[in-house]
Amino acid sequence: MSHKKYGHGCNPKEEPSLADSAPSWPGFYHLIPSNPAPLQNPAAAAAAAATIGSMNSSTMALQASFLPSALSAHKEGKANGGAKDSAFLGVSLSESIKSDFSSSVLRSHKRNHLSAGIRAQTATTTPGVKSSSPEGKKTLRKGNVIVTGASSGLGLATAKALAEMGRWNVIMACRDFLKAEKAAKSAGMAKENYQVMHLDLASLDSVRQFARNFRQSGLPLDVLVCNAAVYFPTAKEPTYTADGFEMSVGVNHLGHFLLARELLEDLKASDYPSRRLIIVGSITGNTNTLAGNIPPKANLGDLRGLAGGLNGLGSSTMIDGGEFDGAKAYKDSKVCNMLTMQEFHRRYHEETGVTFASLYPGCIATTGLFREHVALFRLLFPPFQKYITKGFVSEEEAGKRLAQVVSNPSLTKSGVYWSWNNNSASFENQLSEEASDPEKAQRLWQLSEKLVGLA
Ligand SMILES: NC(=O)c1ccc[n+]([C@@H]2O[C@H](COP(=O)([O-])OP(=O)(O)OC[C@H]3O[C@@H](n4cnc5c(N)ncnc54)[C@H](OP(=O)(O)O)[C@@H]3O)[C@@H](O)[C@H]2O)c1
Repeated sequence: MSHKKYGHGCNPKEEPSLADSAPSWPGFYHLIPSNPAPLQNPAAAAAAAATIGSMNSSTMALQASFLPSALSAHKEGKANGGAKDSAFLGVSLSESIKSDFSSSVLRSHKRNHLSAGIRAQTATTTPGVKSSSPEGKKTLRKGNVIVTGASSGLGLATAKALAEMGRWNVIMACRDFLKAEKAAKSAGMAKENYQVMHLDLASLDSVRQFARNFRQSGLPLDVLVCNAAVYFPTAKEPTYTADGFEMSVGVNHLGHFLLARELLEDLKASDYPSRRLIIVGSITGNTNTLAGNIPPKANLGDLRGLAGGLNGLGSSTMIDGGEFDGAKAYKDSKVCNMLTMQEFHRRYHEETGVTFASLYPGCIATTGLFREHVALFRLLFPPFQKYITKGFVSEEEAGKRLAQVVSNPSLTKSGVYWSWNNNSASFENQLSEEASDPEKAQRLWQLSEKLVGLA
């Protein structure tokens, strides 16, 4: 068996859907000590793991799911905010919607002027500002939330969950405009609750253009969700972004780093009561979990590859300077995501009041993230997670979790990496030593600034 490339290493310890009435789901990795959660049928699980493992390199990820572990602990229990909270900060949805219409006409005029030639679709109704109802009560405008990679998987499910709340205008920031439009339509998202804007994170020019387009739309920015990602577990050779960075780190980290830096001013300028910048993390980058210990492990080393430009020309394509490994590049990029969130928190939370957060949404075994995996893996991984490990989290459930981090009034603490326990209650999870190393975060920040042209 080759030990070269392994699977995504989702956390098979997962939680029931919010809508699910199952009392508890057994699980295993990133395990919370209070919940050892034994497998119901270890023999069947082992047999299934062996079957899947014999066909590709995900064996370790799958087999690891049977091992008991108490390597990751939650710090404190947190409110289990429902994603469908019908009032935000005491303001009712109906009031919000009324006020939205009042200002939308004015704003759409402005946008028609400014967005000529811009590849961005605008919605017919746009959020308004705080205003007074006839009764003199304060009302709250719709929040504007940008979700990158909202054309599929977690991003789409989150966009849908937020759109369904009726008090969010979701800007779906996607590389494939038509795919995103179709996805929104087939998800049943109402036109007045979303718009699609083009963003290709594999091009720094596109990221800058997106920020300009967004600004020209005249919308305030209240929440930014950096969700998009690519994963190349079976790639033998690296691929590169338009700027010559290895693709996984280029898209997942550097593209988002520039985007977040570009839009920080907009978040600061927003008058919304709770402004947030969320960067989606993953258990696979956390080596304090069993999943994170499946080879190849995330390891940024001394960042020498990043310092060299990650371009394979006189420098490595890997952050630590090692040989290219697609699975590791993805995990490294997730460590960067989690370090970046914390560095944002340290640098800007106090000054700006913006909440910076990351999360592990659970193992969403059905998403397009696994599209580059071999076909048999893609076929067997979801039922394996669902029926053997019970670690499966549906896209809908994961979307509700991320929507909570966007919208729930109880999840405003900054600098936190959120996870969910067996009862679907959110809690502050612990990051690995590397993913919480402030010196590494600072160095990563400085090198990333150079690579994206900010320093
Ligand atoms: N699936 C899991 O089990 C799991 C577990 C932990 C964390 N996560 C995290 O969840 C997030 C979403 O992943 P997912 O599972 O939902 O995967 P997914 O379905 O493949 O979604 C990824 C999204 O990113 C977009 N994207 C890729 N390259 C892009 C680029 N250059 N510019 C703009 N957008 C780009 C994709 O666009 P297209 O539709 O055009 O391809 C897609 O919308 C990722 O951050 C991932 O690390 C996932």
